[in-house]
Amino acid sequence: MEYLMAALRAVAEPSRLRLIVLCARGELTVSELTQILGQSQPRVSRHLKLLCEAGLLDRFREGSWVFYRLSQSSPAAALARQLVAACGETDPTITLDLQRLAVIKRQRADLANAYFRENAARWHRIRSLYIDEHEVETALVEIIAAADPGDLLDIGTGTGRMLEILAPRVERALGIDQSREMLAVARVNLERAGLENGSVRLGDMYQLALADASFDAVVIHQVLHYADRPAAVIAEAARVLRPGGLLVLVDFAPHALEFLREEHAHRRLGFADSEVAEWCGSAGLDPTPPRRLPGDPLTVVIWTAQRPAATLRFAEERHEKAPDALPVGEFR
Ligand SMILES: C[S@@+](CC[C@H](N)C(=O)[O-])C[C@H]1O[C@@H](n2cnc3c(N)ncnc32)[C@H](O)[C@@H]1O
Repeated sequence: MEYLMAALRAVAEPSRLRLIVLCARGELTVSELTQILGQSQPRVSRHLKLLCEAGLLDRFREGSWVFYRLSQSSPAAALARQLVAACGETDPTITLDLQRLAVIKRQRADLANAYFRENAARWHRIRSLYIDEHEVETALVEIIAAADPGDLLDIGTGTGRMLEILAPRVERALGIDQSREMLAVARVNLERAGLENGSVRLGDMYQLALADASFDAVVIHQVLHYADRPAAVIAEAARVLRPGGLLVLVDFAPHALEFLREEHAHRRLGFADSEVAEWCGSAGLDPTPPRRLPGDPLTVVIWTAQRPAATLRFAEERHEKAPDALPVGEFR
């Protein structure tokens, strides 16, 4: 009751209602919102602060940028969604706001696509060295569908391709990448695909800012060969897996294409099953038999490993800790 009163008080002001409607359409920065509302930045920031305090918006930082989006899981989240629906799009102020938002999104998409185009040719060359990606993706979708996870994490998400194919099969999908440019492309792709349960965050695979045991599945697709500490990446992925959760690693079998090192910054020329199994075992995971997709000259391997199911005591502890079992600083 009290949170409802606080939320209703916070939103009972035209600019704040407009901000709620805008933030329901994507993750937006203060400067983008300032541009749309045509108000000073301190004023917009103050409105945003009140809306976050009332649980209507979520705020998260990505490097020096701060994003706002409609709250996903606060007690006031349902009210926020109802307010957006009630506002509709016919009010002239809202219509103008949404037109300005469309212009900003187009500018964003143009910038992201320009970056992607610059790199696409390089990636295309690597893709031509192995099996059609469609086959790898089909196999991955099968594996994830069989595991039926609720929360999925994609480490090194890049342009968000894994999120695009896997988010429709899960409740919530989060992609992490260290490259802001890649994340900009991923955001455009997720938005274009209409995947509202998918989001991306800046992050380092060696040190994920995510709570222990907070995901049912973790995917690491074509990322591990860049790692100078692959075992540490696997250990960090295992840490965020819930008991019974599944790790899916996709990379190359051992190969001798040195130019991938020189021209494409690959650090490792593929991985042997035995070393992946050992890293998984050291991270407390049970490896399952890998699946090989032979190509010419590169063979793609899908390694899977499961975190053992909880003992009763662990399950009880996790249940007690449930409110903290969400990504740190995310969604709340
Ligand atoms: C070849 S791309 C693969 C992208 C995506 N998984 C896919 O298959 O489409 C590798 C990605 O790993 C990311 N990456 C490399 N090192 C990382 C690190 N330490 N933490 C997070 N992401 C990293 C890169 O920025 C890049 O986007």
